[in-house]
Amino acid sequence: MKVVTVTLNPALDLTVRSDHLQIGQVNQGQDMQLNPAGKGVNVASILADWGLRVTVTGLLGEENSETFERLFAKKGIADHFIRIPGSTRLGLKIVDEARQETTDINLKGIQVAPPQVESLRKKVLTLAETHDLFVLAGSLPPGAPEDLYFTLIRDLKALGKKVVLDTSGRPLELGLKARPTAVKPNLHELSQLTQKTLSTPEDALDAVKSLQGLEWLVVSMGEQGALFFHEGEAVHAIPPRVVVKSTVGAGDAMVAGLVAALHEGLEVQEAARLATAFSAGSIQQIGANLPEANVLQELQSHVQVVTLASGRV
Ligand SMILES: Nc1ncnc2c1ncn2[C@@H]1O[C@H](COP(=O)(O)OP(=O)(O)OP(=O)(O)O)[C@@H](O)[C@H]1O
Ligand SMILES: [Mg+2]
Repeated sequence: MKVVTVTLNPALDLTVRSDHLQIGQVNQGQDMQLNPAGKGVNVASILADWGLRVTVTGLLGEENSETFERLFAKKGIADHFIRIPGSTRLGLKIVDEARQETTDINLKGIQVAPPQVESLRKKVLTLAETHDLFVLAGSLPPGAPEDLYFTLIRDLKALGKKVVLDTSGRPLELGLKARPTAVKPNLHELSQLTQKTLSTPEDALDAVKSLQGLEWLVVSMGEQGALFFHEGEAVHAIPPRVVVKSTVGAGDAMVAGLVAALHEGLEVQEAARLATAFSAGSIQQIGANLPEANVLQELQSHVQVVTLASGRV
């Protein structure tokens, strides 16, 4: 199975470690890292570590594309990003390791024009001639139509492709109407979608009843783990205890784990175990990477998978 991840609004993540951070004060930093990111890029980076052949596309600013190109070359990722004028946005992450907190500042991204969006649509359809599964992940850049994911999913599904969607707000709401194979909202995104305040697994279990016609649905809930729904079965995967370095990209690692599970044709219990281990492995480090195979296996064996009675969707 050949996988494409689509990132319309990538980012260069600047992660600065600053323990006991105080807003409005002069703070000491302990460390910094610059990582190419954006949800689809993160998913691709993790899948490449897993050993899958993966292609990336989307819209990338031509003025600061080298950091991305280095990552793609290093991990053997096929680069089909369309270059557009301008610089890819910076995402600032301030990690307070002492308090185990991460603060994010996300910028909007490059304003895109209709011909660029059209080139991207064509590129995705061309890639569909040689690939089987598409991951559409992250926000849309300013200027892109809100229903872009809807259109892409509709066209890809019509070609018999599998599509995994991970986004938020209107693009998620509209994208769902095209029935992607899988979606992975977090609690906040599911709250927005269902217009309910959700904070526990029980709340989420109740809220998903309004979502129909998906092969796979995963609701991630941070340290409370994630709910996985597939073919009338539902499980709650509780993550193993790990020392958290940065929770940035935890959800992207889970999406990558879900794609790996689809690739392996796993049942819901094993899919939940694998995807949760991917997330646990990724939050122990900065940047979107998987730990060594033996560490990943160890993590998998420590995921607790609880079967839920009311398994549907
Ligand atoms: N603090 C944590 N401790 C243990 N596991 C965690 C923690 N945070 C996240 N995870 C794991 O990662 C998974 C996905 O996390 P989360 O729900 O935060 O995703 P997200 O909000 O989509 O993240 P993002 O979009 O920033 O990548 C969780 O289901 C859980 O397994
Ligand atoms: Mg997310």
